Amino acid sequence: MNNLKIHHIGYLVKRIEKAIKAFEDLGFVVEKPSKIDSTRNVSIAFLIKDGYRIELVSPINEESVVFNLLKKYKNSPYHICYESDKGNFEHDIELLINQGYVAIDEPTPAPCIDGRRVVFLMNPSLGMVELLEY
Ligand code: NI
Repeated sequence: MNNLKIHHIGYLVKRIEKAIKAFEDLGFVVEKPSKIDSTRNVSIAFLIKDGYRIELVSPINEESVVFNLLKKYKNSPYHICYESDKGNFEHDIELLINQGYVAIDEPTPAPCIDGRRVVFLMNPSLGMVELLEY
C-alpha cells in the first residue's frame, strides 16, 4: 500500500484555542482555523510545520465521538490519516480490511476537509488509522 500518503496526524486536545496557541509557539502555522464539525460534535483545526500537518480535534459536548477518548488519552496524538489516490478510496478500504483492519464507522464526508469522505479503521497491532478520499 505504497500509494497511501500521510495527510495529517490527528491530535486530541481539551481546549482547541489554547492548543493552537501552544503549537504556534512551537512554530506551527494555522492552515485552517478551528471550525465545528457538527456531524461528529468536534472542533477541528489544521496546522503545519516543516511539511508536517497536524489536525487538532476537540470534543464540543458529551455526544462527541472523541469525548471518551479524550478522557482516556488526555492531550495526545491518536491517529494518522492516510490519503488515497484518486478513485482508489473504496479499493483501499477493501485492501486494509483484507490486511486485518476493522472499519469502525461508515465512510462519511468531513466538513473540515472540503467534504471529502473519511473512514476510521482499527488495526490490532497499531491502533486507529483514518483513510481520506482523494
Ligand atoms: Ni484526522
